[in-house]
Amino acid sequence: MLKSWYQPQRGGVFAALLVLLLPVFFPDLFTPLGQASPSIFSEWNAPKPRHLSLLKGALQRKISEKQKSELWSPLEPQGWKPCIRSASNAILPTKSSGYIQVFLDGGLNQQRMGICDAVAVAKILNATLVIPHLEVNPVWQDRSSFDEIFDVDHFIRVLKDDISIVRDLPNEYSWSTREYYATAIRATRIKTAPVHASANWYLENVIPVLRSYGVAAIAPFSHRLAFDNTAEDIQGLRCKVNFQALKFVPHITALGEALVKRLRNPVHANAEEYLREVVDEHVKEGSGKYVTLHLRFDKDMAAHSACDFGGGKAERLALAKYRQVLWQGRVLNSQFTDEELRSQGRCPLTPEEIGLLLAALGFDSNTRLYLASHKVYGGEARISSLRKLFPFMEDKKSLASEDELAKLEGKASLLAAVDYYVSMRSDVFISASPGNMHNAMVGHRTYENLKTIRPSMGLLGQLFLNKSMDWFEFDQAVQAGHKNRQGHIRLRKPKQSIYTYPAPDCMCQG
Ligand SMILES: *[C@@H]1O[C@H](CO)[C@@H](O)[C@H](O)[C@H]1NC(C)=O
Ligand SMILES: *[C@@H]1O[C@H](CO)[C@@H](O)[C@H](O)[C@H]1NC(C)=O
Repeated sequence: MLKSWYQPQRGGVFAALLVLLLPVFFPDLFTPLGQASPSIFSEWNAPKPRHLSLLKGALQRKISEKQKSELWSPLEPQGWKPCIRSASNAILPTKSSGYIQVFLDGGLNQQRMGICDAVAVAKILNATLVIPHLEVNPVWQDRSSFDEIFDVDHFIRVLKDDISIVRDLPNEYSWSTREYYATAIRATRIKTAPVHASANWYLENVIPVLRSYGVAAIAPFSHRLAFDNTAEDIQGLRCKVNFQALKFVPHITALGEALVKRLRNPVHANAEEYLREVVDEHVKEGSGKYVTLHLRFDKDMAAHSACDFGGGKAERLALAKYRQVLWQGRVLNSQFTDEELRSQGRCPLTPEEIGLLLAALGFDSNTRLYLASHKVYGGEARISSLRKLFPFMEDKKSLASEDELAKLEGKASLLAAVDYYVSMRSDVFISASPGNMHNAMVGHRTYENLKTIRPSMGLLGQLFLNKSMDWFEFDQAVQAGHKNRQGHIRLRKPKQSIYTYPAPDCMCQG
């Protein structure tokens, strides 16, 4: 898998605390990520293209029909199909051993894994699961609860033969809240679950608490259940949660579906026309295809990578300062030069670089590109080369009406959910940054045998460093290096996540 050089979950609690304290100590510094704070930084001398000669070549690219049809055609069957093994052992315990609560950190995709693991842990313990509590993310500040994002009735129904789930604790336990645990040390809090704890760890450490008190709150809980040496039916249950039980609420699905339709039928002048199209049942499904590009290029990530992104001295200083404030120089990458980082494939691709990659892979200028992205550090100036290569680039803002967007205003998790939906429905998916969203998509799209391109970061880093390479050579090298990176099934290896590599645990041969 791609080496993940950006793992916000590491040192999570400390970093989260720090971010929470930031506004107190540095009130001027605290603006939403990726947004300029003119009082301190004038950090952009608008970033210029860094690979001008490649860009010129890419703008004149000619792509053969054969190459195009290969690129857009669905994956051939690979001998694996979805297959969830849990039903055999699906006997609900006659008596629940107590209630399990979890409080989940991170963004939507990290929380998603936490939900799957929480169901598995409740099953291991024969406990009743309380619908997981989603923590407010310190970076994105989203307060959406589980039931604002996921369809709770569906969740409970799909899992009803596997575990019992309640929306809230019964009255006698109503004292066991997030606030209760935040204010003092409590006997019912399980605080020490090791990363990738075994099923036995939970049996030994949580059962006694359930016996004494009837309830146990496990936090932190991210990445707290092992992927290896875990019973087949528990693995199967994790698959079932991730691929069957977690469905977005209807208004997210409906909006996602509307965006998909607009991407596939781009005969539009304005949003109202789109809406008419959606209600008109007789509009036939367009033949239009689209590719989703997940582009996470926010200031947090740019700073954490310690790479140089061509915004000049002002940008370098701004990123160094951000690193200093947030991580006190504990960013490993900053020991290396930009060149060293690039040749090791440790720099996130810029929008310009991902544009060149897409062009070399064979996407022509008529490609409909959906940008699944929150905010791009450097704004439109940073995206302009990508837009030149792909003028039909869309995102939530360009496709949805103001009314549609108003419901999601300021709700990063709901916006991420829409992106997840549109990404799942796209003909091709590619991500510029191997983080949680990338992994979630690789996993879910593998499960459904959908085409997913995994950029070879090491190769690209080296190609972009070589200033004497012309477009033809770049194009050839990119294609050769990505032949086997377009969704070919890869079996999970020890320690790897079942949510990124669903075969063989969630899939069967045949
Ligand atoms: C859970 O329930 C099953 C079936 O009733 C039983 O075999 C198992 O020992 C129980 N485990 C615990 C930890 O209570
Ligand atoms: C850069 O690319 C050129 C053309 O492909 C090649 O001949 C040269 O060896 C490369 N240089 C490095 C340092 O890799």
